[in-house]
Amino acid sequence: MNYMAVLVTGGAGYIGSHTCIELLESGYDVIIADNLCNSHKVVVDRIKELSGHKPKFYEIDIVDKNALELVFKENKIDSIIHFAALKAVGQSVSMPVEYYTNNLINTLNLFEMMKKYNVNKFVFSSSATVYGEPHTCPILEEFPLSVTNPYGRTKLMIEDMLRDICYANKDLDVAILRYFNPIGAHKSGRIGEEPNGIPNNIMPYITKVAIGQLPYVNVFGDDYNTHDGTGVRDYIHVLDLAHGHVKALKKLEENPGLVTYNLGTGKGYSVLDLVKAFSKASGKEIPYKITDRRAGDIATCYADPTKAEKELGWKAKYSIEEMCKDSWKWQSQNPNGYTTEVLTK
Ligand code: NAD
Ligand code: WQD
Repeated sequence: MNYMAVLVTGGAGYIGSHTCIELLESGYDVIIADNLCNSHKVVVDRIKELSGHKPKFYEIDIVDKNALELVFKENKIDSIIHFAALKAVGQSVSMPVEYYTNNLINTLNLFEMMKKYNVNKFVFSSSATVYGEPHTCPILEEFPLSVTNPYGRTKLMIEDMLRDICYANKDLDVAILRYFNPIGAHKSGRIGEEPNGIPNNIMPYITKVAIGQLPYVNVFGDDYNTHDGTGVRDYIHVLDLAHGHVKALKKLEENPGLVTYNLGTGKGYSVLDLVKAFSKASGKEIPYKITDRRAGDIATCYADPTKAEKELGWKAKYSIEEMCKDSWKWQSQNPNGYTTEVLTK
């Protein structure tokens, strides 16, 4: 059993909250720093409820260096998992300054604190978006990198910074994790994804249709070169992702320097496959309409996750059926997300 202290930035968010539970259950001490710009304080209570352990919580904007420094002064931090970011691709196109400020400055502040407080282990939330339009699938970690929007550019810029920083400082151990398409929720249905307003991503959109808050799913194009013409993605259960972070932290204990892994299942499902799987798992009919392609979308994107399997001993275990079942459990038990509980407090 270890009692290493992990600073989890963005730990109240969708992937962060599931990862905090996994960390606490694995014996780590967890310190969350989150400004709640896309999450709720009640998540921190639910992390405690589900894991049986209380994370320490700082409601701070990590762009604020003084606020961040207090966390390092008050805690002996062994490692950092950095989730905190703005993540909506479309919004990043209309609000690039906000995206560059939030995502880059907060990361630079962390790098400065790591140097000052001698923290040498860092896990970074990157994204399959850094592969741009891959020339072929499955995607390997060494494929060329390119991005087409400010959100993706922040991810690639931070990856590049990490490569430079690790080249200069051989004491650092860094894991860049490139997530494919996270969906699903905790088995309890107590925590899950709660997008602001009308969802951009497909699974929260489907669950809002299933619960009756939206009339039908817009399927963005059925003329792609895929088995049914709709876009193919590598959907991965958020619990598998959470587990991948604990495995990555364990890897960093072996002092590997900089390592990069795809976290995906290696399987591709089309939009219509997902709609059908969700209907079956929820027992709800999901009406849909085929509409135009969405600008910037690619036909197919799925991972080759072999490297993570070999080097981390990690493999996604949940099926698309379980991902759908758990997304539905979360949505149906919390039709208004976390909001109801927040308002009654
Ligand atoms: P999320 O929005 O649910 O979580 C991010 C959390 O960070 C939120 O709780 C938000 O309040 C917090 N935050 C943002 N800026 C902050 C700041 N300046 N200071 C303090 N807290 C701040 O998003 P998520 O889906 O859990 O994503 C987590 C990470 O994974 C992000 O870096 C995202 O870019 C990356 N990622 C997500 C996906 C996805 O589809 N969800 C895919 C690939 C990569
Ligand atoms: C999936 C498929 C759409 C909505 C995005 C980011 C990526 C990463 C994950 C952060 C595509 C189709 C969608 C809808 C639809 N995030 N779709 N109707 O675009 O693969 O990836 O989230 O890093 O960077 O770009 O995910 O869920 O938006 O789309 O038909 O209402 O569903 O065209 O084929 P995407 P998504």
